[in-house]
Amino acid sequence: MSPLTQILSIDQGTTNSKAVLVADDGTVIARGTAPVSLTLPRPGWVEQDAEEIWASVLQAVGRCLAAGGRAADVRAVALSNQRESVLAWRRSDGAPLGPVIGWQDRRTTEWCTSISTPANATLVQQSTGLPIDAMFSAPKIRWLLELAKQAGTPLADVCVGTVDSWLIWKLTAAAEHLTEAGNASRTLLYDVRRLGWDDTLLDLFDVPRSVLPEVRASNAGFGRVSGVPGLPDGLPVIAVLADSHAALYGQGCTTVGSAKATYGTGSSVMTPTQSLQLGQSAVPSTLAWVTDRPTYAVEGNILSSGAALAWMANILGLGDVAALGPLAEQVHHSGGVTFVPAFSGLGAPHWDRSAVAQLTGMSQATLPAHLARAALEAVAHQVCDVVAAMERSGDLHIDVLRADGGATRSELLMQIQADLLGRPVAVSDLAEVSAIGAALLAWHTLGVGTADRSEELGHRFTPALDADARDRARQSWARAVAGSRGCPD
Ligand code: G3P
Repeated sequence: MSPLTQILSIDQGTTNSKAVLVADDGTVIARGTAPVSLTLPRPGWVEQDAEEIWASVLQAVGRCLAAGGRAADVRAVALSNQRESVLAWRRSDGAPLGPVIGWQDRRTTEWCTSISTPANATLVQQSTGLPIDAMFSAPKIRWLLELAKQAGTPLADVCVGTVDSWLIWKLTAAAEHLTEAGNASRTLLYDVRRLGWDDTLLDLFDVPRSVLPEVRASNAGFGRVSGVPGLPDGLPVIAVLADSHAALYGQGCTTVGSAKATYGTGSSVMTPTQSLQLGQSAVPSTLAWVTDRPTYAVEGNILSSGAALAWMANILGLGDVAALGPLAEQVHHSGGVTFVPAFSGLGAPHWDRSAVAQLTGMSQATLPAHLARAALEAVAHQVCDVVAAMERSGDLHIDVLRADGGATRSELLMQIQADLLGRPVAVSDLAEVSAIGAALLAWHTLGVGTADRSEELGHRFTPALDADARDRARQSWARAVAGSRGCPD
């Protein structure tokens, strides 16, 4: 292969870092991964180590290059990353000032509640599209700044950033303190209409502008690689995308009417929108990416998907969650059983933290297979609820749902998803869809138009349930959700 024909794309996630070399036709030439650990020092606290994250990126890149890649062929670097997680470090020597506070961390819940007056909620929602919640970066930044103050670090020596920002700092040997617009949009400090840090929000969250990185468009260039083992100095870092947004891009969902669902511990359903839709709280608006113009999206986060399957597999005494599908295949329906996995309440589109998990409709004839099937149906119904809310509030129609993530390996789950949605589901077999999304944006920026191969590379599931049966199933699910929320029928 001739030189400079590959993008090195890094995807830094919550549990691992991945590196892939992507050719200009979108094919993956080589890949490498390395794990990252999480620590849970107190209930609700989720931390990571910034230096360990960087070390895992170096390890993943090294493994990728050792697996058939050649650094001399790399034309540019692209990056996708876990969102909302945030850290502070010393400007003078790059030393982390405390932990990376993870996106799942809830330590600031009480403080968020204390500032959630109706006026503040409207202010934040109108500027960012998001609710005031401990998941987002701003309240965590406030906490980190307090830690830095207690340690006596002068504010002028403090840098704050999300994981993209930290990795750009490390990749460029501390030359650049930058972040990407889609990542900035998850901080609660960034005005997604004006595309800039917002002074009123900075005041509300007690964050001085001086500690924050400069925000750049997703393909505006993020400096040049310097001093990274195994990589030539001077490689440009061309494109950066937040991971869920990168999956949307990698799945080819760049136009209105296309949508993707990522099935992880929870699920994220996302679709681009014609314009910014502020005020749609059931499925919050977000900034997907910025190129020559901003692309907006709506995203519904479901709290319990893979986690619900794992719980059911455990209750049924199955050693492996993958055994749930084969067990569920023994029956053609759930025998009237409905499972609402509201273990930490319900996320989009219900947003009810007080909802409780329920397993209903059992009889003496209920078999373990019915319970297994009810768990798979719960994952699919929740995605249907988000798609329905998106279509109701956004005046759009989703023709095909593109699916990625671990649980898509269950063919039965994907068939149930197509049946309950009444639309085809196209499952990507790209294991690194976020990294590929960032690489494709880099190639497009370099003027290389890679074809959308996401459908051709996947498996399509067509609905096989008639409309009446689908309606009955959806209604019975809606009754179960109402029950879990303590609402009358
Ligand atoms: O919003 C959090 C999300 O970006 C984390 O993604 O893939 O690292 O779990 P992941």
